[in-house]
Amino acid sequence: MKWFWILSCSVLLVAAAAVLFIRSGSYNVAANVPHWSTTYIVLEQVRERSIMNHGKGIEVPGLDGPDMLKAGVQFYHEACRLCHGAPGYPSAPFALGLYPSPPYFPSGHSQRKRTDGETFWVVKNGIKMTGMPAFGAGYEDGEIWGTVIAFKRLPGMSRDQYDAIAVIAQPGESSADARPRRGFLDLN
Ligand code: HEC
Repeated sequence: MKWFWILSCSVLLVAAAAVLFIRSGSYNVAANVPHWSTTYIVLEQVRERSIMNHGKGIEVPGLDGPDMLKAGVQFYHEACRLCHGAPGYPSAPFALGLYPSPPYFPSGHSQRKRTDGETFWVVKNGIKMTGMPAFGAGYEDGEIWGTVIAFKRLPGMSRDQYDAIAVIAQPGESSADARPRRGFLDLN
């Protein structure tokens, strides 16, 4: 019985301390202050396991249709390049301030660990508490598969090859209307 009370009081004390800590506002949510190393290790495990688990049942459609690489790279250039970079295009300066930082895709590091299903799942659903948006909110699956194709092909591509595929808009041209509509997988 004595141990029961000691245990209950300890749990209550820890809970009260946690509430006080949160209410005090002393935890720093700033993106330029790194996580404690234990938090970082736990979050990384949670992310990796979650992506592997959710990506494994996804059926991958044929990804080599005509114009699909072009459409995918064009969309990548509009929607992903500023955070993840592209051959000959560094990430935008604001991406340096994202925490966790977006991986630089031309390096090929992410491609070595992600299956097509996992990549599709991440792009469609995003990753909580990071800058990675859920593109499924505004784009169709066919468009998202386009970015999977681009993602896979970036490593080893030169800037000239990339520019030739993406037909990059010239300065002064509006990119707002540049969302390509042709060449994507039609899954309907
Ligand atoms: C506003 C910035 C931002 C944009 C725009 C963005 N991402 Fe991300 N993305 C991130 C961040 C930050 C991460 C890292 C999350 C983490 O480490 O948990 C990430 C992670 C990813 C990952 C997982 C990489 C890995 O190594 O596990 C994939 C795949 C991905 N993004 C693809 C894309 C694609 C494709 C697009 C465009 C359709 C895109 N992202 C647009 C910020 C962005």
